[in-house]
Amino acid sequence: MYMMIKDSGGRRLYKIAKIKNSIILGDAIKVLPKLPSGSVDLIFTDPPYFMQLPSKKLRRWGGTDVLGVKDGWDKFGSFEDYDKFTIEYLTQLRRVMKPNATIWVIGTYHNIHRIGKIMLDMGFWILNDVIWLKSNPMPNFLGVRFTNGTETLLWAVKDKQVKKYTFNKSVARSYDPSGLGMNVWRIPLCSGDERIRDRSGNKVHSTQKPEELLRRILLTSTKEGDIVLDPMAGVGTTGAIAKRLKRNFIMIEKEKGYVREIEKRLKGA
Ligand SMILES: C[S@@+](CC[C@H](N)C(=O)[O-])C[C@H]1O[C@@H](n2cnc3c(N)ncnc32)[C@H](O)[C@@H]1O
Repeated sequence: MYMMIKDSGGRRLYKIAKIKNSIILGDAIKVLPKLPSGSVDLIFTDPPYFMQLPSKKLRRWGGTDVLGVKDGWDKFGSFEDYDKFTIEYLTQLRRVMKPNATIWVIGTYHNIHRIGKIMLDMGFWILNDVIWLKSNPMPNFLGVRFTNGTETLLWAVKDKQVKKYTFNKSVARSYDPSGLGMNVWRIPLCSGDERIRDRSGNKVHSTQKPEELLRRILLTSTKEGDIVLDPMAGVGTTGAIAKRLKRNFIMIEKEKGYVREIEKRLKGA
């Protein structure tokens, strides 16, 4: 069973037992401070990229449109605003991690370097950067730079002293043809039946992550019964996979339309 909770905006603290396997409709910046300290085993966060695409249409060779992230949720006034937002949610995420919890943050070249610096400055200790190598990346713009075929995941603990975190090394090895358990995961973009579309066939979410990515994250760094938090859940890939793998989830998402899609998705998960 799962629940949808609409954050009332008040200051009342949430009890973990009440929000386990829930989607909270609300702003993570307001909701996270109301979560109990030291309460989750794993965090996966896929924050806005602050992509700053130009307002004019970008076209590829051959004339097709470039469909970047143009959503309102990806817009910030400046790098300072973006960093302030990042510091606010990461401070709360660090607080709600159990002592041996780990955190995964995914981003592109637009944002991951800023986030990585902020994490290190805050005391997080980075265990790995895992490269998601897209086996079918979007072709490049006008041939003026390399085709961007990767995203970067930072996997970290709260601080350097944390040693007893979950790492299922046999699972990690099974993803790597060399058997070494390397930090490069070759996974296609989310497509086919997995991609959530509206009645007209348009993508419901511009950056829905592939289920295989979340499957690898949860299988390598959690155990059955663990609590997984995703504070900017989009269309709920984290919760859908957590449910399937018998992990508990807490998801926060501020857009009502996406939360509706999560509800539908969880019914089928
Ligand atoms: C990159 S997308 C996440 C996609 C998700 N991983 C998936 O597979 O569907 C980022 C999401 O963060 C949400 N978001 C942005 N700012 C937020 C905030 N302050 N509180 C809650 N959600 C937020 C956006 O609405 C967007 O859906």
